[in-house]
Amino acid sequence: MSEIDQLRGEVLAAVTAASDVPALENVRVDALGKKGRVTGLMKNLGTMSPEDRKTFGQQLNLLKTEIEDAITARRATLDSAALDAKLATEKMDVTLPVRPELKGSLHPISQTMDEMAAIFGAMGFTIAEGPDVEDDFHNFTALNFPPGHPAREMHDTFFLPTAPDGNRYLLRTHTSPVQIRTMLSEKPPIRVIIPGRTYRCDYDMTHTPMFHQIEGLVIDTETNMTHLKGCLQEFVRSFFGVDDLTIRFRPSFFPFTEPSAEMDIGCSRQGGELKIGNYGDWLEILGCGMVHPNVLKSCGLDPEVYQGFAFGMGVERVAMLKYGIPDLRTFFESDLRWLKHYGFAALDVPSLTGGLNR
Ligand code: PHE
Repeated sequence: MSEIDQLRGEVLAAVTAASDVPALENVRVDALGKKGRVTGLMKNLGTMSPEDRKTFGQQLNLLKTEIEDAITARRATLDSAALDAKLATEKMDVTLPVRPELKGSLHPISQTMDEMAAIFGAMGFTIAEGPDVEDDFHNFTALNFPPGHPAREMHDTFFLPTAPDGNRYLLRTHTSPVQIRTMLSEKPPIRVIIPGRTYRCDYDMTHTPMFHQIEGLVIDTETNMTHLKGCLQEFVRSFFGVDDLTIRFRPSFFPFTEPSAEMDIGCSRQGGELKIGNYGDWLEILGCGMVHPNVLKSCGLDPEVYQGFAFGMGVERVAMLKYGIPDLRTFFESDLRWLKHYGFAALDVPSLTGGLNR
């Protein structure tokens, strides 16, 4: 057997025998390191005749590749075995009963979004989602905010540093970019709600840099403002548990809807206490409108064929109204006492027939 064959046999056997990563590294250094056995033979090449050097050199290179491949394969096996062992030690029994002192609760935001999803779900809406980091196209341009349009300034946008691809990414200022993503990826009829995080550079009693919105989008061939009205009326009545709750619309402006409106619900502020119901006073609750033809066109939909409506609502705001939470900032302070007070039991599943109103 030639010297090379013998070396091959020994090294490959050692690779197979290595029982952990450090042992495998020792085998690698012994063979291919600066003072390794293969490296040693390489050094001898200089003293050989050109003819021998060629054949011997080729064989050595082949051996080197073979050893490297064997080490890589062995490494993969050892890594996955190590991962399996680690996972085995971290195994937990999810069927164990909850320890009462560790009982968690649902954050009012999660609870409120679940309730909204239950109500809109019963009306036939499904949930759509999109990324928090958006590009200018989805957050603004496709929503009919032309470059330089002053309406862009209404959103105090968090911009990210310009990316290598030349795009200036941003944290989405509203959930409306997911309208665009949905219209680009799905064929009408579309009926989606879009819950999610949104971001604006603002911080005071009634604004936090991160907050939540729930967006609604309906696209079909015969959709009009009465559908919008009926849908939202049904929603607020169900959500606030006031069967005859009155709503009113005031004209407003959003670049992506035409006409645009703000919707109010009936309330009372008597005695400094806010009550939802038909007491003659009004409370603004959401923005809405008919999807602008330019937005439909940006998504490849023919405005002569399709129309639709959209609405957007602040989740913290309606949660505060429904559950009497006075200060927005407390939502994000992770104060356990606050969570104990305003949180919801984890198994309190929202439904239309029970549990929505406390
Ligand atoms: N995106 C708007 C906002 O954040 C709300 C909105 C959504 C208005 C959909 C109309 C239609 O203020």
